[in-house]
Amino acid sequence: MFLTGYWLQVVLSWAVVAFATATVVVAVQKAQLAKDLRDVQDKIDIFEEWNGESRYRTKREDTIDYRLPTALVPTHYELYWHPDLETGSFTGQLRIRIQVVEETNQIILHSYLLNLTSVYVLNREVETFELEEERQFLIITMTEVLPVDATITLGIIFNGQMKDKLVGLYSSTYQNEAGATRTISTTKFEPTYARQAFPCFDEPALKATFAITVVHPSGAYHAVSNMQQTESNYLGDYTEAIFETSVSMSTYLVCIIVSDFASKSTTVKANGIGEDFSMQAYATSHQVDKIDFALEFGAAVTEYYIQYYKVPYPLTKLDMAAIPDFASGAMEHWGLVTYRETALLYDDSYSSTANKQSIAGTLAHEIVHQWFGNLVTMKWWNDIWLNEGFARFMQYKGVNAVHSDWGMIEQFQIVALQPVLVYDAKLSSHPIVQKVETPDEITAIFDTISYEKGGSVIRMLETLVGADKFEEAVTNYLVKYQFNNTETDDFLTEVDALVDDLDVKKLMLTWTEQMGYPVLNVSKVAAGFQITQQRFLSNPVSYEEAPEDSAYGYKWSVPITYTAEDGSEGSLIYDYNEDTVGIAFNADVQWVKLNVHQTGYYRVNYEESLWTLLIQELTSNPDRFDIADRAHLLNDAFALADASQLSYKVPLEMTAYLGQERDFVPWYVAADKLVSLHRSLMFSEGYVSYLSYARTLITGVYEEVGWTVDANNHLKNRLRVSILSAACALGVPDCLEQAAQRFNAFLQNPTSRPAPDLREIVYYYGTKQSTSQSNWEQLFQLFVDEDDASEKLKLMYGLSGVQNSQLLFKFLALAGNESIVRSQDYFTCVQYIAANPVGEPVVWEFYREQWPQLSARFSLNDRNLGRLIAQITANFRSSIKLEEVQQFFEKYPESGAGANSRLVAVETIKYNIEWLARNRADISDWLSGTASPLTKKNQL
Ligand SMILES: *[C@@H]1O[C@H](CO)[C@@H](O)[C@H](O)[C@H]1NC(C)=O
Ligand SMILES: *[C@@H]1O[C@H](CO)[C@@H](O)[C@H](O)[C@H]1NC(C)=O
Ligand SMILES: *[C@@H]1O[C@H](CO)[C@@H](O)[C@H](O)[C@H]1NC(C)=O
Ligand SMILES: *[C@@H]1O[C@H](CO)[C@@H](O)[C@H](O)[C@H]1NC(C)=O
Ligand SMILES: [Zn+2]
Repeated sequence: MFLTGYWLQVVLSWAVVAFATATVVVAVQKAQLAKDLRDVQDKIDIFEEWNGESRYRTKREDTIDYRLPTALVPTHYELYWHPDLETGSFTGQLRIRIQVVEETNQIILHSYLLNLTSVYVLNREVETFELEEERQFLIITMTEVLPVDATITLGIIFNGQMKDKLVGLYSSTYQNEAGATRTISTTKFEPTYARQAFPCFDEPALKATFAITVVHPSGAYHAVSNMQQTESNYLGDYTEAIFETSVSMSTYLVCIIVSDFASKSTTVKANGIGEDFSMQAYATSHQVDKIDFALEFGAAVTEYYIQYYKVPYPLTKLDMAAIPDFASGAMEHWGLVTYRETALLYDDSYSSTANKQSIAGTLAHEIVHQWFGNLVTMKWWNDIWLNEGFARFMQYKGVNAVHSDWGMIEQFQIVALQPVLVYDAKLSSHPIVQKVETPDEITAIFDTISYEKGGSVIRMLETLVGADKFEEAVTNYLVKYQFNNTETDDFLTEVDALVDDLDVKKLMLTWTEQMGYPVLNVSKVAAGFQITQQRFLSNPVSYEEAPEDSAYGYKWSVPITYTAEDGSEGSLIYDYNEDTVGIAFNADVQWVKLNVHQTGYYRVNYEESLWTLLIQELTSNPDRFDIADRAHLLNDAFALADASQLSYKVPLEMTAYLGQERDFVPWYVAADKLVSLHRSLMFSEGYVSYLSYARTLITGVYEEVGWTVDANNHLKNRLRVSILSAACALGVPDCLEQAAQRFNAFLQNPTSRPAPDLREIVYYYGTKQSTSQSNWEQLFQLFVDEDDASEKLKLMYGLSGVQNSQLLFKFLALAGNESIVRSQDYFTCVQYIAANPVGEPVVWEFYREQWPQLSARFSLNDRNLGRLIAQITANFRSSIKLEEVQQFFEKYPESGAGANSRLVAVETIKYNIEWLARNRADISDWLSGTASPLTKKNQL
């Protein structure tokens, strides 16, 4: 369908346009953004139904109330499920015990994509029942009114489909060692998919107990659920597994798995807080040895949390399972956490140091939720940030408790904090606490604001009140609200109760109720230092367009921490009502650095003379600043320059100190920036001198880390991969050569692979430099045949590096075949291809052409599909591309869970255009002037 010549033309014209139009666009651009945002906002209000068939396309009425009425409260579910692995459908029966708290003649609960064959109420008469698609409601009308305090029992017999989906009750397949396809069935309910597996009151505050029975094939198959199995009834071909009645819990935490998985187990020690309990890990039988690491780490981190929370683990077992097809990374079902295979299975002949850390991080995250989230749950999804933010924050503490040499505390900065500061500096961001109602809105806020900003703001709070008080507040909160539901305010009340001299709640409201964050400007005055604040926006143009829609006027109550030239440290609160605050110092204290260890959620700008002093100190005495502070200085300086609030000279001058830097976290910040600048400047006149500068900067550390992986130095291993990837991305000749050599040796003898840490670099830059189509085909075949999930992803990444748009197009088309790329990995694959400058236009064309098919396959409610648009267009930097994007949105106005992603896409492209216009000259001036002495100094 697409010819090579055509693709070449696309690539070239894009390059020329990006270069030529940047300055023209700036003028046209003012005021346009606000209008675009409004236009897209209008489109958010259009709600489209589930499966993209456009059956129920209605303009959303403000009068629609998506919440269940308050008349009824479910207290107990009896559930009988039979997933039929052969036919791919399931049948079920349930009885729900319901308390009537307000008089009503209707029973309203959720049911979606289920076929109801019988609906009855014990000892009472049902008049009619109907399904309402828009709200996913089952509405049962009774012949008589149900009186207050009555207890009724609702019974329903139902069936549904498990195929071709990754939510609700669904089936997943894998190949066993003998090459036979095996089917399992599993569940994923959060946030609104329990209703696709059984009719239920599918809101997190409507907790109830669950007595579950699951029918599974006899023989190799078995079933697991949240609770221990108590009985099993052999019925010939089938067996009923009966589980202990659960504690009171939300519907989204219910889980069952029917599989032929193998397992291993260990014991978690309560050490005086409750009873010891068992932890069992499940995986496909031929991979069962890959769960050893997860089991050992899982037990250790759980033991740490028991001591931290000082609340016994509420159930009698905590299991984990690696599922071959899984929509998100993992899910914290109470007592039975499910994971993607890559998030649980570790094998040192396949898994890299980063894989190991990521497995530990995921486990540490899900296990946090067993208390914070499962035992105490948010009342409504508006407050999901509290669950997710807390877990994101706490997972770093958890991993750190088990592996103190992994530098996890500082890594929070680079993985969580610094990326969300970029996202949250845009007008398309949103407040942490946000009103959501529809299933699309609910799934969409499982985003970086809820997780990473939530986690960052909680980390700031911990620093503010002190770790001990924070921990005590967490315990009090869990004890007070166990088996119950809360709002943000309930948690803050517990923290507030332990702090005398400060209104914690009032301070926190400025962070949770309004989006964005401040930049503090610091200047030297006679009496010390003077500080003012202003909202930080990454695009200078945004200042004119930002709506004045916050009760706090986009001012924040900022917990400031500082360290000064004389070695003194201190803290103060900058109240959002104050215009300015000061820190008193003798005149001989020349400089101060704010935001110690970057625990605050804000940026700091200094007048230029202060930056000069900080850079001098950093260069002459880098150890004067901790690892976290060095990473912070680099990050703020570049971000401020990117936002035109600081001359680009400053961060570029600062990079000179990197000649002496050997720690992972600061280098991660620097390497990331060096690579992204390389992409931003690719079509500007300073590109060549930039490349030579960046290569010189990285050469010292590149030579030092080398290509030999240390067995036992976690941070050095992380540093190595970071440096080698950046060096190859920047085209350091030795790096490319080393990668090519290893790649060719690997293709000659694929059973002998490079060290797992080096594989992504070798596969990617090997493929990138290879001009032979047969090399790519060979790699593709290795990818198809690969069984290990993490190795498969590495090969997939390698395939995306090829510099041939025809092959990339072929890859993209093949990736649509589920037996080649699993649905769960599809979006990762598309992103990998789009991140390759040659692949970017290929993906963009494909995405537009295939949109109807994509939205039919994944549904508009798929948040990963929604986010794809912002990812594909992240490097667009021309007005032509902007127009194409806008035309696409006009053509397909329904965006489902991707509404916000569209806003982000438009704003990012505008920012990119603006950035190039503003900074190109500054950067090339600096490079042609100051650069040479600096780089010379650097080489010494
Ligand atoms: C609904 O269930 C009935 C009874 O089991 C069955 O005959 C029918 O095919 C089902 N319909 C759908 C759409 O699955
Ligand atoms: C949950 O909390 C509410 C309000 O704090 C209280 O009225 C209710 O009794 C609690 N429920 C349980 C099960 O503890
Ligand atoms: C902070 O400094 C920046 C850059 O000099 C300037 O644009 C901004 O207006 C200052 N803000 C305040 C509140 O002083
Ligand atoms: C998907 O790929 C498999 C394995 O290569 C192949 O057998 C099948 O025909 C492909 N399906 C389609 C629709 O192309
Ligand atoms: Zn979570």
